[in-house]
Amino acid sequence: MTAKIRILPSGREFQVGLHETLLDGALRAGIAIPYSCNSGACGECRARLVSGHLTPDGMHDYQFSAAEKAAGYFLTCKACTQEDLEIEVREAGGVEDMPLQQIETRVSRLEHPHPDVMVVHLRTPRSQSLRFLAGQHALLEIPGVPPRNKSIASCPCNAMNLQFHIQRVPGDPFAEYCFSELKPNQTVMLTGPSGHFTFDDDATEEVIFLAYDTGFAPIKSLIEHAISLEYAYPLHLYWVASRAGGHYLENLCRSWLDALDDFSFTPLLDEGAGSTPFSDTETGQLLGAQRIVAEHPDLSRCRVYMTGPEHAVPRTRALLLEHGLPEAQLHIDSFLRF
Ligand code: FES
Repeated sequence: MTAKIRILPSGREFQVGLHETLLDGALRAGIAIPYSCNSGACGECRARLVSGHLTPDGMHDYQFSAAEKAAGYFLTCKACTQEDLEIEVREAGGVEDMPLQQIETRVSRLEHPHPDVMVVHLRTPRSQSLRFLAGQHALLEIPGVPPRNKSIASCPCNAMNLQFHIQRVPGDPFAEYCFSELKPNQTVMLTGPSGHFTFDDDATEEVIFLAYDTGFAPIKSLIEHAISLEYAYPLHLYWVASRAGGHYLENLCRSWLDALDDFSFTPLLDEGAGSTPFSDTETGQLLGAQRIVAEHPDLSRCRVYMTGPEHAVPRTRALLLEHGLPEAQLHIDSFLRF
């Protein structure tokens, strides 16, 4: 059994399970409402009940004055309900609403989906999960290794379990450390979030994602967010790999293909790229954009999110704009080799 929660003033709605808190339900639905401790201590997640009733058990209202309680204020991280509600709460308008946080995380799992790609899973303390928007970055610090700003590859709807994709690049001490020394349970200090490469929740265009190699990381976060939001327009993923096996989470992409009605997945391989990651060839740089313009003759109705190495951006951008993509509908997150 679930209840429907309508948020004012935006009018957005989400479902919440019987024993789920309103905060967890909102985050699962991709709605960014404020919170911090997730334990009833900080008061950040305050909201006002406009209509309906909350489940009385577990209510923590000592944060509020008598007048605020009378006005219906409550904490979304502690409140559950068995009936449809209307609540008033401030939603994050953009990256400026995301506070800078410093969190001591632990490595919960390490995966090697490709010999040169490591997926690092970090877990935050329960009382200090990371509040961020899909597509943002965080600074990772490990003692004795130069810190690295990395895209968060997971969805904000699971803010305790964060994922990062590390590409082995010769000469990058951070990557070398991750591949040779990093161990489960080790501490990694995280500072963030940062970055403006975020999903436009209110857009009404079909969305094209273009990723190069491990530029897939923020794209994965955006796609998972779009899924949690139940984004109503088609989603298309083009993933250019510079080496065989470079679509290192291809099974995940195929599972989206099976689960979603309006999703397409096009893996592309830059066969002339040689052995180094992040293609330097002109063919490789244009491979994704050429396929996109061939398959989407009217780009004016599309929104494109692209992540790739800096050297691949100018040609791709020029080609997409030449074929009618409005500049305001092109979002780019470029990165250096390391
Ligand atoms: S009281 Fe801190 S998030 Fe709810």
